Order: sequence, then structure tokens, then C-alpha cells
Amino acid sequence: MRQLASRLAVMSGEGALSVYARAKELEAEGRSIIHLELGEPDFHPAAEVLQAAKDALDAGKDRYCPVQGVPELRQEIAAYMARTRNLRVPPGNIVLAPGCKIALFLALMALLEPGDEVLYPDPGFPGYPSITRGFGGVAVPYELAERNRLQPDPEEVARKITSRTKVLITCSPNNPTGTVYTDEVQRALAELAVKHDLLVLSDEIYARIIFGGAYQSMLSYPGMAERTFIIDGFSKSFAMTGWRLGYTVAPERFVTALDLLAVNSYTCVAEFTQWAAIEALRDAQGATPRMVREFERRHQQFIADLNRIPGFRCLPPEGAFYAWVNIADTGVTAEELCRIMLEEAGVAAISGAAFGDAGRDFVRFSFASSNATLKEATERIQKVSAAWSAAIARR
Ligand SMILES: Cc1ncc(COP(=O)(O)O)c(C=O)c1O
Repeated sequence: MRQLASRLAVMSGEGALSVYARAKELEAEGRSIIHLELGEPDFHPAAEVLQAAKDALDAGKDRYCPVQGVPELRQEIAAYMARTRNLRVPPGNIVLAPGCKIALFLALMALLEPGDEVLYPDPGFPGYPSITRGFGGVAVPYELAERNRLQPDPEEVARKITSRTKVLITCSPNNPTGTVYTDEVQRALAELAVKHDLLVLSDEIYARIIFGGAYQSMLSYPGMAERTFIIDGFSKSFAMTGWRLGYTVAPERFVTALDLLAVNSYTCVAEFTQWAAIEALRDAQGATPRMVREFERRHQQFIADLNRIPGFRCLPPEGAFYAWVNIADTGVTAEELCRIMLEEAGVAAISGAAFGDAGRDFVRFSFASSNATLKEATERIQKVSAAWSAAIARR
């Protein structure tokens, strides 16, 4: 029998989705499960966004539309980039996609030749190494280590650059660590990119979800406009995960290639969702800042509660909505710990190895749930922590 293409063997799935499947099984058996595994805001889009989608459908905006996206939305994204990131990007350099993941996928498809090396954060979004390998690239991790407060170490990145390095992926705020890269780190990474003529994929999907300070895009550093692809979208900042809406801001010389890949894959993004997205960006009622304030309130309580669980150690995240907990002191593996939490306490979280080797001793909890639910989750974990705290006491 004929076999699948070999690229499938080097690609991988996502840990969150398999934990979710098991959690759903337990729920079907009647168990109460607290879902802290998925990277999905527990909010829905603002009322005016929903209304704009309905109005667009009523107005017959359900046709094929321009491949790069409707011009009005690209204008609005350019204005949004200026307002939230102080960037001047021409609307012509923006290409809409059905989600950031596809934007990332097609950018890497456009750029990678077999053997090209891609530097990516570890721990990081699992798609980076998987998609890289799928296109014949070599995925080279750089670590976000606790000793560096989960920041990239530019010296390590510099050591890992070779003549085959073509792309540097950055993600600030980072999933799963919540790290917002410092200005110093970003500047050093930008200097390396310019020096070694690297292209940078700056995944800015969590850019709006930061707890203090202004967001600084990788594109804003000297020499970066001609080499930076911003990947952003509506899933997180506007709680629109299921709408499948993302975009790339690309240097001008790459736009035709992204357009060609769009033509060959999705043709265009659903038209009525694009009209609704304009309202999301305008955010007349301030829905995004309100959601971010709520995440900030929750994380203060949740991180403190997690740090009270025996063997748990968690630095406060600076953005996104994840708690990244070092569990090495529990004496059990992250996989076993997640199994105990799910099967015995009904709390679903993801073992850190799902985000790369550097995540081996960590567990990721999403705090996209109400304070009461988060409180109950930590209480449930406290109750089952005897399973490992006795071992800690003996050491
Ligand atoms: C860092 C990062 N990039 C990209 C994505 C994909 O987002 P989208 O829903 O727009 O495809 C995610 C989703 O979890 C993410 O965490």
C-alpha cells in the first residue's frame, strides 16, 4: 500500500488538544473537570462585533473577496498597528489568513528550503518546530530559562546562528511562559538579525495582553522593517478563537509570495468575519482593555495560590494568560503530576514538555477562567498534593 508523505513523520500535534480529549471523556463519565489546559479566553467578542457580523451577512457579504483581505480591514489593521505599536505599516503589506497558525505556516512555507535552520523559543508554541520540520527545515531551539527570568539569552542565540540559519522566531508575550521580552533582549536579537541577515517571524498574537508597560514590536528596531514578519490575529486579544482570523504584516518584497500561497490554499478569509473584525479593532466599548484587566486581577490571586502548593514554583507572567509552574521539587514527573491532577482532582493542565524539551519540569495552567474556578482548582490540587508532598518531606 502506498504511504503518507514523509513530512508527516516529523510533524507533531499539540498537547493541549490531547489533554482536552481525555478531560472530555471524564466529563462524559459524569466527573467535574476544571479546564485549565486550553489557550482560549473565557470571553466572547463584544456585542458590536457580533452585530457587525450579522449586519454583514444581511448585506450579502458572504462572497469570495480580495485574496489579501478586504481593503477596509487592512486599512484598519494599519491604523491599529500605529495606535497600539507605534508602527507605520502600509495596508498593502498586510495579508489576512484564517488564523495565525495558517499565517505562520504559509510564511514558513514561503521562506524555507530543505536544510534551512530556524531558531525558535523553547518552551514555545509547538507549531514552530513542527511546521519547520514539515517544510524540511531544521528547528533549532533557544532556551527561555528560569535563570534568565524566562527571557531569551541573545548570547545563546548568537552561538546557535550558522550559515544555514534563515529565520528567527520570537514570541512576546510568550506562550507558555508569559514572558514579555525586554527592550534590551529585543534590541540584541534585532542586532543579530541585521548582522546575520536573518528574517524574523515575530509572533505578536498576545501583544495586547500585557500587564503594564507599552508593547514594543520587533519590527520597530533599526533595520527590522525589511526583515520582520509580524504574525497577529483576533483569537486572543479579541476572544475570537473560533472565527479563525489572523494576518501577516510582511516586508513588501514577500507580499506577492504570501498572496500566491493564499490563492493556492484558502483563496480568501470569510468576508463577513472581516467586516466584524473592523469593529473588534475599533473596540468602541474598550472590551480588550477590560478583558486584560480581568486577566491581571486573576493572575495575582492564582499565582499566589499556586505558589502555596507544595513543590510548585511560579514566576508571575508579564503577559498572555498562562501560569508556567516549575514542579521539579515535587519529585514526580510533569506527566505524572498532570495525570494525578486530572484523574484525581479533575483539574486539566498541560505538561511542559508539550512546549519543548526545556519545559520538561514545568506545567502550564491557563487562567482564562473565573477567579472562583481558579480558586477551586488550586484547592483541589492542594487536596491531592499529599501524593507528592510526603515524598518532599522525606527528602
Ligand atoms: C503563540 C501562538 N501563536 C499562534 C497561535 C495560533 O493562533 P490562531 O488561533 O490565530 O491560529 C497560538 C494559539 O494558541 C499561540 O499561542
